[in-house]
Amino acid sequence: MSPTQPTLFRLSPAAQCQLDEEGRLRHFLTIEGLPAALLEEILETAQSFHTASGQAARKVPLLRGKTIVNLFFEASTRTRTTFELAAKRLSADVLNLDMATAATTKGESLLDTLRNLEAMHCDMFVVRHHQSGAAHFIVRHVAEHISVINAGDGRHAHPTQAMLDMFTLRQHFPDFSALTVVIVGDILHSRVARSEIQALRTLGVGEIRVVAPRTLLPREAASLGVVPFKSMEEGLAGAQAVIMLRLQKERMHGSFVPNEAEYYQLYGLTRARVELLAEDGIVMHPGPVNRGVEAESAVVDGPRSVILKQVRNGIAVRMAILSMAMRSHAW
Ligand code: CP
Repeated sequence: MSPTQPTLFRLSPAAQCQLDEEGRLRHFLTIEGLPAALLEEILETAQSFHTASGQAARKVPLLRGKTIVNLFFEASTRTRTTFELAAKRLSADVLNLDMATAATTKGESLLDTLRNLEAMHCDMFVVRHHQSGAAHFIVRHVAEHISVINAGDGRHAHPTQAMLDMFTLRQHFPDFSALTVVIVGDILHSRVARSEIQALRTLGVGEIRVVAPRTLLPREAASLGVVPFKSMEEGLAGAQAVIMLRLQKERMHGSFVPNEAEYYQLYGLTRARVELLAEDGIVMHPGPVNRGVEAESAVVDGPRSVILKQVRNGIAVRMAILSMAMRSHAW
């Protein structure tokens, strides 16, 4: 797949349609262009849900009477289930549309499916799609009162993952300005990497490094505001956090790495390499993890790993985003 992969849907200018006239979150499609104050508000709102019960968020009646539809056209474990839990903890009614058995498989167009959901008085669509721009496309075609949340579109954006990662990072390192974060692996195909870099930059992280094979680094890497490193040894040295990325083979058309064994040898996070991080450095991964490809199993389960904490934080952060987006609705 070439770095200029065509998209089915035209991308609207960043962030333009995400805020209402009062600057409140209406849709959540991309981090790009959102002000730092809004990202801070998401983190603070998530914190209020997180601490409400000590560990995970307890149930609150904020979205009682509202209906949220999970529209997942692509596989998901963490994102779909934590969105469902978040919606339920906000007391919303939740519909999980199984796209494998939905009428789109019988030839119904996506837009007709959306019209039918609108007719059921749904208030919000949480959308995952393999095509970049799918969530933007839906925003342009659904009724005005419906909010759309991007749960991952192609290799374009995964903004809620980025926010739950910012929340997790902040639990460990409240001062972002002093932070060095390293992103390792398949940057080229990663919607997570794009959204992470935008969030880290917006929130003023000191240094963002990337380590990747040349074939998996986008040509525009320099303009993303990151510092590329050739080796894990150089890239990890003294950093406070490393975000490992999955090799996204489903988005690769052609050979981007010689083989997984060689990739692991050069870019795998081993126990020895973890020791290169700062003393309090943490290991992150958005999942799903391929043990023995991106990281050694002992690292995934090791004391520096916050991978399951990331998943848990997804509930409070998604509660924050759902409730903030619904605030712009007339009740
Ligand atoms: N991180 C992430 O998006 O995981 P899922 O594909 O399981 O939702």
